[in-house]
Amino acid sequence: MEITVLHAKSNKSLATITNVTSNSTVLDVKKEYQKKNPKYYATRQAFKVDPKGKMLKDDETLGSLGLKGKNVTLYFKDLGSQIGWTTVFLSEYAGPLVIYLIFYTRPAIIYGAGAASEPRAQVVNIACACFSFHYIKRLLETVFIHRFSNATMPIMNLFKNCSYYWGFAALISYFINHPLYTVPSFGDRQIFGGLAGFIIGELGNFSVHVAFRNMRPAGTKARKIPVPDSNPLTQLFNLVSCPNYTYEVIAWISFSVMTQCLPAALFTTCGFYQMAVWALGKHRNYRKEFKDYPRSRKSIVPFLL
Ligand SMILES: NC(=O)c1ccc[n+]([C@@H]2O[C@H](COP(=O)([O-])OP(=O)(O)OC[C@H]3O[C@@H](n4cnc5c(N)ncnc54)[C@H](OP(=O)(O)O)[C@@H]3O)[C@@H](O)[C@H]2O)c1
Repeated sequence: MEITVLHAKSNKSLATITNVTSNSTVLDVKKEYQKKNPKYYATRQAFKVDPKGKMLKDDETLGSLGLKGKNVTLYFKDLGSQIGWTTVFLSEYAGPLVIYLIFYTRPAIIYGAGAASEPRAQVVNIACACFSFHYIKRLLETVFIHRFSNATMPIMNLFKNCSYYWGFAALISYFINHPLYTVPSFGDRQIFGGLAGFIIGELGNFSVHVAFRNMRPAGTKARKIPVPDSNPLTQLFNLVSCPNYTYEVIAWISFSVMTQCLPAALFTTCGFYQMAVWALGKHRNYRKEFKDYPRSRKSIVPFLL
């Protein structure tokens, strides 16, 4: 079989690949293409059957895509320099942890000399414990729980994601750790009510991540219809496709209530918006891929969205 590789945008001819058959996978094609263009390692390449169509998956065979016969055409897209998912996640999450703890010590350069020795309200200590716990949990989940299907992502995401997480961590911690921070209006009821919500959100989020892990056999990219397991917190799968996002939002709403901090509420709103966009996309894909996908299930907010 001979594959003519055209550029997906310009239609320019880029290469001819001959060393493949209809049993070869898309990954085999990528390896052959890399031999001709060493700069384009496999994870940087995307191939399409139609220039405006979907990117082909690595494990699909040419035959299964209907690409048979002597001459076929594939369209190539450069995904740009790639970086490992784990590297991105670890950088994203280690930053907020370090930044928050720096503000917690009330450095003189930020809050003025003597700020560190002024008393801290109990809620300031609780907020520090919650914030640190959240990011330590995420770091550990990245290393020990998640089974990602993509090994890499574009390097630009590293800068974008780090700016988002690090920037918000600085903003939130600057205000909560400020010597002039005022404690929540409704006192302990508000603080401990918020803390309880935060703990439920974190436990639920963790439970869903474990459930996702168990749905995907190690070393595979399998994606099944998600269903609850024996952990009651995973029952939320019956109502939404992405309960991990729902629980994440519950945790941050609770943190915002607990601290009565406006930047925390802003972070919650931005996070909710982003996760809602992703959840709607994932939900749409589930419904497209699985004809028997539960009809009553929503994306992220039970019964509503
Ligand atoms: N605060 C914020 O602004 C914010 C924003 C985004 C995320 N987050 C947090 O970060 C966490 C991870 O985010 P994410 O976007 O990577 O979550 P995600 O897409 O839901 O994925 C979590 C893990 O589960 C896997 N997975 C998803 N659906 C699956 C299925 N049906 N079967 C088997 N495995 C499946 C994913 O693999 P794939 O690699 O195949 O997707 C990934 O390894 C979230 O749960 C949330 O707590 C926070």
